[in-house]
Amino acid sequence: MRICRSIEEIRDAVVAARRGGARVGFVPTMGFLHEGHLSLVDLARASGCGFVAVSIFVNPTQFGPNEDFARYPRDEARDIGLLEARGVDVLFLPPVEVVYPAGHTTRVTVAGVSEPLEGERRPGHFEGVATVVLKLFNVVQPDVAAFGHKDAQQCAVIARMVRDLDVPVELVFAETTRERDGLAMSSRNAYLAAEERAQAPRFREALDAGVAAIRRGASTAEAEAAMVASLASHPAFEIDYLRIVDPGTFRTTEERDRELLAVGAVRLGRTRLIDNLRIKPLATEASVQPREAVQSRSNEERS
Ligand code: PAJ
Repeated sequence: MRICRSIEEIRDAVVAARRGGARVGFVPTMGFLHEGHLSLVDLARASGCGFVAVSIFVNPTQFGPNEDFARYPRDEARDIGLLEARGVDVLFLPPVEVVYPAGHTTRVTVAGVSEPLEGERRPGHFEGVATVVLKLFNVVQPDVAAFGHKDAQQCAVIARMVRDLDVPVELVFAETTRERDGLAMSSRNAYLAAEERAQAPRFREALDAGVAAIRRGASTAEAEAAMVASLASHPAFEIDYLRIVDPGTFRTTEERDRELLAVGAVRLGRTRLIDNLRIKPLATEASVQPREAVQSRSNEERS
């Protein structure tokens, strides 16, 4: 695996791969890799990419002033080993001044879908994400880019940006990779103390309670109350939000003729966790797929 730290190096590597006839896949990450990240590498391969590039860049512009940028977990040597073992062709590891040279002022704002939920709790977060992802797309110029549905609102923001700015990339989305006890894998799980880690699967169970309520015919408010009630006996959790939303807008809805999303953010001690579960339309209950069965969904399928 080649490691590139400059824009010129990674562009040269991609140009050479494309000249050799390869379709180029790209997986942007912030490192401290786990099986969820690596599933995106597999998805890029399964999407026909003979050449797969991964980036590791802890992007300062997507962290708020009181967030965990400084202590975000980093382990470059371990990450390199994992990517090498997964057959990644090139790793882009830019220093911050390569991505944000002195004097940079341009930002990408995706109005609408970036505003509720995470957008409300983390002002500027999605602007930082959209800006760095567009920059990385312009640097790597991939044919395909893979993202994880664990960060469902991030997927929607990027899909909107790609469509609105005519970015020539095909987006593919991977289902959430979970630990055996149901906790969604996340680099931030490393922050959890042992007792918190033992409690953490209750979060996913709260989302399950929301899904079950909707399937029983509950209103959105009732389903949200069921999620809150499910965590009530676990005082270690501080609920940021637990909502049933339309996955197109991330706003509340009483519609039942479309897919819905049970989505949440909670704090366990000083760790903030996010997760979500899809809820298939009730009308097509017979066609409900097993929860983790869908490996990828195209941009078009999502919207
Ligand atoms: P990061 O949190 O490192 O995640 C990188 C990619 O891995 C994202 O697409 C994320 O959705 C996906 N991912 C994380 N956990 C996952 C899991 N359990 N299962 C499947 N996929 C998972 O998301 C970011 O970095 C940044 O915002 C980034 C897009 C790189 C921009 O800085």
